[in-house]
Amino acid sequence: MKAIEGIQDFNSRINRVLITEEQIAEGIVKAGKWIDGIYDGRPILLVSILKGAFVFMADVCRAVTVPCEVGFMCAKSYYEGTVSTGVVKITMDLDRDISDYHVVIVEDIIDTGRTLSDIVKLLQARNPLSLSVVTLLDKPSRRLVDFTADLALFTIPDHFVIGYGLDCGEYFRNLPYIAEYTE
Ligand code: IMP
Ligand code: MG
Repeated sequence: MKAIEGIQDFNSRINRVLITEEQIAEGIVKAGKWIDGIYDGRPILLVSILKGAFVFMADVCRAVTVPCEVGFMCAKSYYEGTVSTGVVKITMDLDRDISDYHVVIVEDIIDTGRTLSDIVKLLQARNPLSLSVVTLLDKPSRRLVDFTADLALFTIPDHFVIGYGLDCGEYFRNLPYIAEYTE
């Protein structure tokens, strides 16, 4: 990615809005209701993988009306050149035992599926009451590892997207909508 030089350059890379704020808001309501449906009196822990999902997590947790806690993890995927080695390293872990929780992973986007399939395996090994995945965006055409979310709000074509937490070179996370990136 070429470095961003000023506001004009920044704006010119936002190709077109793919999912509007209104559409996202409708999706959030759906996600909140879905998570409410999990509640059986035992605790729910919403888990996000930083940084991408922080905006989605902030909205989703406020659409949940049953008791829940939030937790965050940081993961890094290791690459040899541009090819993923398939090794995901946890650089920041959850701060509690999850064996007494219904865990819901709240993710921004599923692309190749590698990150989430590794994290799901890792968390499953800790024996939560249940484990499910809610994702804002899904790019099924890019999958390298078989992975299906329990709830995917928007399925999008194979185009790099930015905004609503998603970045390109750490920029554009602050856009309130999802847009296509162009250089
Ligand atoms: P996966 O392991 O390939 O599924 O990787 C998913 C991660 O790649 C996401 O959590 C994002 O951080 C990043 N990613 C994948 N596609 C996009 C995109 O279109 N825009 C921004 N980040 C993306
Ligand atoms: Mg990410």
